[in-house]
Amino acid sequence: MTDKAGADLDVAEVEVRYGAIRALKGISFHAGAGEIVALLGANGAGKTTTQKTVSGMLRPTLGGITLDGNRIDGIPAHELISRGVCHVPEGRHVFPRMTVEENLEIGAFRFRHTDQGDLDHVLGLFPLLKERYQQQAGTLSGGEQQMLAIGRALMGRPRLLLLDEPSMGLAPIIVAQIFTIIREINSSGVTVLLVEQNAVQALSLADRGYVLETGEIVLSGTGAELLADDRVRAAYLGEELAESSGAGSATGGSATGGSSTGPDDLGEPH
Ligand SMILES: Nc1ncnc2c1ncn2[C@@H]1O[C@H](COP(=O)(O)OP(=O)(O)OP(=O)(O)O)[C@@H](O)[C@H]1O
Ligand SMILES: [Mg+2]
Repeated sequence: MTDKAGADLDVAEVEVRYGAIRALKGISFHAGAGEIVALLGANGAGKTTTQKTVSGMLRPTLGGITLDGNRIDGIPAHELISRGVCHVPEGRHVFPRMTVEENLEIGAFRFRHTDQGDLDHVLGLFPLLKERYQQQAGTLSGGEQQMLAIGRALMGRPRLLLLDEPSMGLAPIIVAQIFTIIREINSSGVTVLLVEQNAVQALSLADRGYVLETGEIVLSGTGAELLADDRVRAAYLGEELAESSGAGSATGGSATGGSSTGPDDLGEPH
């Protein structure tokens, strides 16, 4: 489905300002080709700002971003899509008055024609969308809209897929489905930069992760390392798991307690 293997993303010393506010204070991180990298952090930490900057919606005031070694900061979003940088924004933003079919076609706009193979791939990943093919996107459930938003991005054949809180507001069973699909997308080689509040599931899935705090990266490590880190456990996993931290291991196998979904089928390596 992808033109090439996943892209390698490197973010170096990036600062982003909203007027006088320094939302990102010189952050550096890396997502290797084919990796899933999780970005965690509290509300307002700068996660969305980071994704918007990588996808070309915002311009850094300092620092640089490279995709496979080529500078991309300053290139606008619509051009970056042609390089395979596809962003599923916070809040989904499907086109509500258009059908599922039309939304998916828009995702393929950088190609002259909608590729039937791409469409079959997306509808295979999201059979629900097939059932709702002629339904107006605005009348889909929240979970269905999220699936459509991801499906639409996949129609652009991403090499780097940016997902901003894909599990937000969804029922646990839908969250589990979304995470399974993220893993499936990644297994075809797509690099994924995943922003999530749902730290347990994100870190169970991620090769590596970074924790943002008020515009700075304060922690980084493999998904398993971060899951076992006391600071991450205290901030994200709550008292219940903090009490059992004596049993903490870096295997990722402890990624169960704080979640109401079934992470058993999410935490396995792929
Ligand atoms: N357009 C804007 N103008 C001014 N300040 C902004 C703007 N967008 C974001 N900010 C500020 O930048 C900081 C980072 O915001 P951002 O949306 O990146 O956080 P986030 O980590 O995605 O938070 P959340 O988990 O709530 O989505 C916040 O302090 C926010 O108020
Ligand atoms: Mg956000």
